Formats: sequence, C-alpha cells, structure tokens
Amino acid sequence: MAATPAPGLASSAPSAAPSGGVRPGQAPSLAGLDRAPFRWSGPGQDQLPVRLRGVVPSWLRGDLVRTAPALFEQNGWRADHWFDGLGLLYGFRFDAAGVSFRQRLLASQVAADAAQGQSRLASFGTRTRRSRLQRLLQPVPQATDNTNVNVIPWQGAWLALTESQHQHVIDPDDLASRGLYRYEDGLPAGLMMTAHPHFDHASKALVNVGTSLGRRNQILVFRQKPGESKRQIEGSLSLERSPYLHDFGVSERHVVLIDHPLRLSGLSMLFSNRPLIEHHRWEPEQGTCLRVLDRQSGRWTTYETDTCFCFHTVNCFDDGEDVVFDVLAYGDASVVGALGTEALACGRRPALTPRYLRARLRPGGGRVELEPLSPQGFEFPAIAYRQQHGQPYSVAWGASFPGSSWQSQLLRVEAGQVRRFEEEGMVYGEPIFVPRPQAEGPTDGVLLSVGCHLGEPRSSLVILDAEQMRPIAHCDLELSLPLGFHGNFQAR
Ligand SMILES: [Fe+2]
Repeated sequence: MAATPAPGLASSAPSAAPSGGVRPGQAPSLAGLDRAPFRWSGPGQDQLPVRLRGVVPSWLRGDLVRTAPALFEQNGWRADHWFDGLGLLYGFRFDAAGVSFRQRLLASQVAADAAQGQSRLASFGTRTRRSRLQRLLQPVPQATDNTNVNVIPWQGAWLALTESQHQHVIDPDDLASRGLYRYEDGLPAGLMMTAHPHFDHASKALVNVGTSLGRRNQILVFRQKPGESKRQIEGSLSLERSPYLHDFGVSERHVVLIDHPLRLSGLSMLFSNRPLIEHHRWEPEQGTCLRVLDRQSGRWTTYETDTCFCFHTVNCFDDGEDVVFDVLAYGDASVVGALGTEALACGRRPALTPRYLRARLRPGGGRVELEPLSPQGFEFPAIAYRQQHGQPYSVAWGASFPGSSWQSQLLRVEAGQVRRFEEEGMVYGEPIFVPRPQAEGPTDGVLLSVGCHLGEPRSSLVILDAEQMRPIAHCDLELSLPLGFHGNFQAR
C-alpha cells in the first residue's frame, strides 16, 4: 500500500534516492546546516568553561540536561530530516562551586552506523539502506536508538528518549550512555513510545503511550511506578490506521490522545526502506478526533473537531465532569516536511507558530470546538509542571519565531496577555520553569532557556524572572550549541 506523504514532505523527502539516506554525488549539500541554529562547534570538548553575567539565584541547585540533533552528515551518511541528526546531550550544573557545563555525543547504534556510512535502523525521516535480501530477512527494520528528542530524570539517572522502543539510560555526571533501558514486562518488543511521558503526581508514576504496529495498530496507554521496570496498562485502542503521536494529555482521571489525520498503516512498512513519516498518510477529510480514556474504567470517549495537526500539548486537567485539554495546533501537517534537512540547509525557515487552543470535553462525546487562548502562536510549551501539570493553571511559556530569521522570543502567556523576552541575534529554545523554594505562587520562580547566536560561535543559558520575563543571569559558552527540542531540570 502506497502512502501519501504529509503535505510538504514530498519536496524534501528522499523519494528519488536509489538506495537510502545516502546519495553520494547526487544529494544537495547540507552545508547550510553548518551555521546557527543547527551548528555544533564543540566536538571533542567534553567540558567547557562558563562565563557568568549577573548573579545566579543562590537557591538554584541542580542539573539542566538537554538533547539536540547535532550532526547531520558523516562519512557518506546523512540525515534527511532535522529529527534524525545524531543526538547531543549537554548539561549545566548549578552547585556550590558555581556553574559548570558538559556535553557528549550520544553513543547510539545509529551513530556507530553513521560513522561507517551506513543507515540500517528505521528513523523518522531518513531512509534506511538495506539490500533486498536484508529486507526479505527482516521485513521491518529495527527502530532507531538515536534518542535525541527529550531527556527526563528517572530512577536516579536520566532517560534519553525518541519515538521508538529504545531509551538510553544516561549517567547524570558524565552524560554517557549506560545502555538501553530494559523493561521487564510482556508488552510488545517493538512498542513505539512517545518522547513525552508525563508524570502523574498523584501516583508518582510515569504515564506514556505506545503504538504497536500490525494489521491493526494497537495504541497502549500505560504507567510505570518508580523503582519498577514493569509497565501497567491503563487502556488500549485498536485502529486500522493510527495517528502520529508525539504528545498527549494526562489529568488525574483521564488521558487524551490527539487522533489527527496524519495516520500510519503498519503494513506499508513491510520490506520498505522508506522512513517512518513516509508511511503516514495525510487525510484531512477525515478530520481530527480527540480520544479520551477514563483511566479508572479503561473506557474511551470520542470527540470530533476541526482538522489540525499537533506536536505538543500544553496541559490537561479535570474540571468537574469535564476534561480541559490545551494544545498547540497547526492547520495541517506541512510543518513535518518543512523540517527536512535540505529545506533547512537552503535557509527556508518553517512557520513554527501553531495556535494555542483549548478543548472543553464534556461527558458523552460528540462535536467539540477549539477555542483560542492566545493571539500569538508559539512552540516548545512549558508550564509550572511540578505544581500545575494535570491541574487548573493560567500561565504558559513558550518560544516563538515571529520574524524572517531564526531569532526567537520567549513568551509568557496568561489570559491572552503576552510578555516577551528576546535578544538581538539569539535563538532561544524551550524554556523550563524552576520554582523558587517557598514560592509565593505557582509561577514564582525562574525560566531556564538555552540559546545560540546566529552570527557568532557562542551560546548562552539565560535565567529569567518567570513573572517579569527579565534576565537575572546569563551562563555564556564559547561554542555554538544546536537548537534542540527538549530537556528538564532536576534539583539536587
Ligand atoms: Fe516534542
């Protein structure tokens, strides 16, 4: 079965490639990615000195750890999509000695293969290079372990995540991989889990969603308690074509999945060298469904809404019998193709401006409208996660790219009111909220955001007053750090 690519994907997808992600002598150059915000200028430097401007709050103690795609070409291998760049882990540590910085390229199988010019593992947007015999012997390739999307603190270490069954356990001190996390349960070995598990503060568990491919795709919602390597199923859904799931919502009593019309047929992956996203079909006429799981009973309720495409949720909470679900929604899925490396290398900047929308899901299902919460679109959403995830909230933060360059704004959004922070030439990414001890309110604390300069080989971690959006301190580095996706802060 041939899949129709998502809008915009065809122009940058390597569909004309004869044998995979590498096209020696044919592929347009990715040299354009050797500049900010994609450039990593620090290979071979595990630690770098930090120059401090301003005063770091004395109460800020802990680790900010982030991940980013950092290398896009190597020995004949190349990534065809931003999401497939080889993952870099980096961290800022705040302790009694001050601020320190360390970084390490993830030692993944994908990186080892890339060093040999090979592309064997299935990834988001880069073709595999497998011979006909290899494809016959293994109809569906092993999935990527290039876990470059998110990194979360878990069970005394960090877990580096992507959208596959593989998760690297990361040493909190040197950021080296200790190997892949091993689950000890009977869930499908190839379960593709999202890179956005959510903490359920009531049960202290991690809640995530996975998709198991087959004649009908199975979506599993599960939780994992601290200290356990077993995942417990909270609900399951069987769909002939399942949506691309990047994030989802969790409240105390419900899980909400975005069944947008970028849907995957598992059967189309058989014997194929095409990447995961090319097995998705954009079906706008099918509309978008929100599927709500009652976590206690395991029952699902379906709501129909306008066609949209979402990467990220902002928050989800129960309000009496209603479920309130806030998302960042694009009009269609063209952003997926716009993030191909050839397009980015040519200097084409995608519109990362989804709308901040709210769905109020009343009991019984049916039609639901998406109500705007902000006049300005943004990506990389953040909330006061520890205090307000799964709870009523009023403040969200994010990063916006309003101009023609990659220079970004960090936003604080509340009831349609927006406060902004930006600096000339700087591309700041996802902000992370860290509460002040003995905080006087749920948003009393600082925002941490890492950015690189568009014209000079320098980067900075800015510490902002989260209420006023004013800088308190900068932790400067003399290297270009690539713009990445997600990370977290762990107090120490
Ligand atoms: Fe994400």
